[in-house]
Amino acid sequence: MNFKKQIEEGIPSALPAPKAFDSTISHAPKRKRILSFEEYKLAIRNALRYFPVEWHETLAVEFAKELKEYGRIYMYRFRPDYEMFARPIAEYPGKCEQAKAIMLMIQNNLDPRVAQHPHELITYGGNGAVFQNWAQYRLTMKYLSEMTEDQTLVMYSGHPMGLFPSHKDAPRLVVTNGMMIPNYSKPDDWERFNALGVTQYGQMTAGSYMYIGPQGIVHGTTITVLNASRKIGGTPKGKLFVTAGLGGMSGAQPKAGNIAGCVSITAEVDPIAAYKRHEQGWVDEVIDDVNQAIETALAWKAKGEPRSIAFLGNIVTLWERLVEGGIEVDLGSDQTSLHNPWAGGYYPVQVGFEEAKEIMAKDPARFKELVQETLRRHAAAINVLSARGMYFFDYGNAFLLEASRAGADIMAENGIGLKYPSYVQDIMGPMCFDYGFGPFRWVCTSGDPKDLEQTDAIACEVMEKIMKDSPSEIQQQMADNIHWIKEAGKNKMVVGSQARILYADAEGRIKIAKAFNKAIRKGKISPVVLGRDHHDVSGTDSPYRETSNIYDGSQFTADMAVQNFVGDGFRGATWISLHNGGGVGWGEVMNGGFGMLLDGSKDADRRLKMMLHWDVNNGIARRSWARNDEAIFAIKRAMQDEPLLQVTLPNKVDDSIIDAATSAE
Ligand SMILES: NC(=O)c1ccc[n+]([C@@H]2O[C@H](COP(=O)([O-])OP(=O)(O)OC[C@H]3O[C@@H](n4cnc5c(N)ncnc54)[C@H](O)[C@@H]3O)[C@@H](O)[C@H]2O)c1
Repeated sequence: MNFKKQIEEGIPSALPAPKAFDSTISHAPKRKRILSFEEYKLAIRNALRYFPVEWHETLAVEFAKELKEYGRIYMYRFRPDYEMFARPIAEYPGKCEQAKAIMLMIQNNLDPRVAQHPHELITYGGNGAVFQNWAQYRLTMKYLSEMTEDQTLVMYSGHPMGLFPSHKDAPRLVVTNGMMIPNYSKPDDWERFNALGVTQYGQMTAGSYMYIGPQGIVHGTTITVLNASRKIGGTPKGKLFVTAGLGGMSGAQPKAGNIAGCVSITAEVDPIAAYKRHEQGWVDEVIDDVNQAIETALAWKAKGEPRSIAFLGNIVTLWERLVEGGIEVDLGSDQTSLHNPWAGGYYPVQVGFEEAKEIMAKDPARFKELVQETLRRHAAAINVLSARGMYFFDYGNAFLLEASRAGADIMAENGIGLKYPSYVQDIMGPMCFDYGFGPFRWVCTSGDPKDLEQTDAIACEVMEKIMKDSPSEIQQQMADNIHWIKEAGKNKMVVGSQARILYADAEGRIKIAKAFNKAIRKGKISPVVLGRDHHDVSGTDSPYRETSNIYDGSQFTADMAVQNFVGDGFRGATWISLHNGGGVGWGEVMNGGFGMLLDGSKDADRRLKMMLHWDVNNGIARRSWARNDEAIFAIKRAMQDEPLLQVTLPNKVDDSIIDAATSAE
């Protein structure tokens, strides 16, 4: 049966043969066994509802085994036999181009070159799921192949509830992931309800089909390292950057360090992850001796040339040795998976990597103790180096949050805040998000690298034109991104679909998108999917990350992300998504995003203008209301340009008035 027919078939009519476990690819960690006996039965009952009753006897035994062994029911047997990758859009079956574009993006997220644990349908971050199981994948693709422009597909955490009548301008797909009653949003609730098969952790771009491989994070990390260096003075040249993690996202750190121009040491406990990044050319060398790693880095620093070193070992071993050796570090951070500290995101220093994995599965309570002690040592070493002048920033992996929960000496003197800023508080927030700059991205649906080249050139031309009249406040961002797009092709970061990312504000995003749509209309390029990372101006409410530079107390609310999702939906997005979790962990963040197909039509012109304008200005308005000066500047500019935009502006009060009014208390 050919590819199109297999997609159209959905759940196959004959029971496919069981699949052998493929040990050549990376698999998700075995999840902890959390279900009671009754819940265990319920999970199997839930899984079987996808299949005809004649198969139940066979599948019940198999699913029970999967659940026991892996902690989840992935339905491995139903993984399709065709190759998983984003095909050119014309190769998808279907009645509407928008649905075909979505299929392409789904397949990209599951491509083994792109996805972290492809057979468990995990794209990145250890638990960032596209679907919970292969039945959901098959049904979703079938629905998309049948959908018309008068229908919307509704996705409940990976489960395709079905096609519902709607209209041409409605989103073709509405995705929610991990929406929980707030009191049931603790990490163990994810374990339980995901094991039951009723919810999933969609991360950000995993469960929203907008992941573009490591390029997105390389760009974001490069911008962060560049701006962190500017913050402490000068350029990254000759600076030493120490951090941890060479996994899905964190693996971008050494490459970004090299692009920015500094020397970096990145610790990684897992030899598979370290050598994989080395083979891919993302890190220059792997050294397992801590002293040698430090000496090598210092030699390159002295030369003033960029170099990236992977230290194969625990990050705490490295930090403690840097302290003992009296070594000066300029920039420090961490990108272990602390959003997932008890299930393999962060490894303790007291035992070896393999032993730690065993303890994690057999004695979770002891594992937790070891991790928390490691976090306390981790923070203590960082405190010493910071006192010696290092600039440390939390890179959105919940390091500070978990260290504080472990009782580490990480609280600020006022006892309320934390000792160190998150990279959003100091860097991304005031320098990018408050001005509307965020991770705009696009995918060429032809799969043709020449289309990507053309879009790079179009985007560059548009930005250079905008920059000529840009205010001084945003000149640096414009310049960094023009430089990036000029170099992007050379840096060869495309893995999977032909995609590109850059940071742009509302004006840049709208003008670039319009120029793409024009080029499509003229037949110069094929249709393009627009999107963005959820880690953006308006898409994410996350008090320790994206909204950590909001100081009016509203950083613990999630109205912005929800409003964004809804507003994008009725302004023309092709698909919209809203997620609990993502980045810093289940229950800690709400985030949303969109996808939009540009097909060269007038409809697409109308939609892109309306939707992208809202998608950025919603967040600027909120950031401005929180009294952020950069956002007040940006929203005033936006109101000048668009008379239909009217935003409530804050009146700032002089502190002396508050102090006087409260002095008697
Ligand atoms: N700021 C951002 O823009 C941003 C973007 C993406 C991800 N993140 C966050 O960064 C974290 C990492 O993401 P990822 O996709 O790379 O996850 P990942 O799980 O693929 O990689 C983390 C790596 O850290 C290693 N590690 C764990 N404990 C260690 C220790 N003590 N010492 C040395 N190495 C250790 C693991 O072996 C793993 O390879 C996540 O929490 C994620 O949410 C932040």
